[in-house]
Amino acid sequence: MARILVTGIATIDHVLDVAEYPAEDTESRALAGASTPGGNAANTARILVQAGHRADLAAVIALGPDGEALLRMLDGFAVGVAPCARHAGRTPVSHVLRSRRSGSRTIVHYRDLPELTAAEFHRIELAAYDWFHFEGRNPSELPALLRAARAAAVDQPVSLELEKPRAGLDAAIPLADVLMFSRDWARTRAEQPEAFIDWAAQRHPEQVQTLTWGHRGAWVAYRGDIFHCPPSAGLSIRDSLGAGDSFNAGLIHALVSGQPPESALKAAVRLAERKLSQPGLDGLFTGLSR
Ligand code: FRU
Repeated sequence: MARILVTGIATIDHVLDVAEYPAEDTESRALAGASTPGGNAANTARILVQAGHRADLAAVIALGPDGEALLRMLDGFAVGVAPCARHAGRTPVSHVLRSRRSGSRTIVHYRDLPELTAAEFHRIELAAYDWFHFEGRNPSELPALLRAARAAAVDQPVSLELEKPRAGLDAAIPLADVLMFSRDWARTRAEQPEAFIDWAAQRHPEQVQTLTWGHRGAWVAYRGDIFHCPPSAGLSIRDSLGAGDSFNAGLIHALVSGQPPESALKAAVRLAERKLSQPGLDGLFTGLSR
């Protein structure tokens, strides 16, 4: 069991299951609907708890009843919310259409809430954690947050998710030990995953770097070695909402448990596949050895 601090956002996801993705300017009826906590950091923390860790979330939560309700739901998943900061504003929401036909999820996100500041992050008792994970957002503050984690750490690893390419996030890259790149990020530099991971391996040889690329699988690079993990054959995709967050949680869980990068990559891919094959984020480790 490790103590892990996950920094990023918490949202409310309003999810509608539809038979297939609708055309613009049409009306259709959903097959099911639910509202649930979401956000990359909140999802990652929730999955790390399932893996047996003590995961705390550092996010901004809106003052008022919606924020209170979100905190209660996170607490219900046993995610530690003490490091969260409170601000006036609106709880970030995502409206998500989940297509039963393809298993894809289409997200429209709305936020009008300040991001966590370095001053708020400094108030957290950082020395208590074994691992620091950051969602790559909030470019103006992120490097300062990572620097604070580094200053408090003796040898605790710092991981950074680079999902959505945002100007200014590059500055945080040298401050992390583990970099989790998405296809969208990689595509700003290379057309093919192999070309990106080769480039990344040369540029940051001392960092564990992963790249996820949907149906092509995932890669890890570390100290000159590059490994590829293809997806399992015949995987049937039911729900891709949170699959990337599952990959990240699976990777952190495997690395913090002492697995080398190649087997950590495989464990992360298998957890993401487990997520893809089932609806929702509950029970991801049921029947799996942790
Ligand atoms: C899934 C997710 C959702 C959230 C959205 C935010 O990865 O975290 O839960 O609404 O992405 O971008």
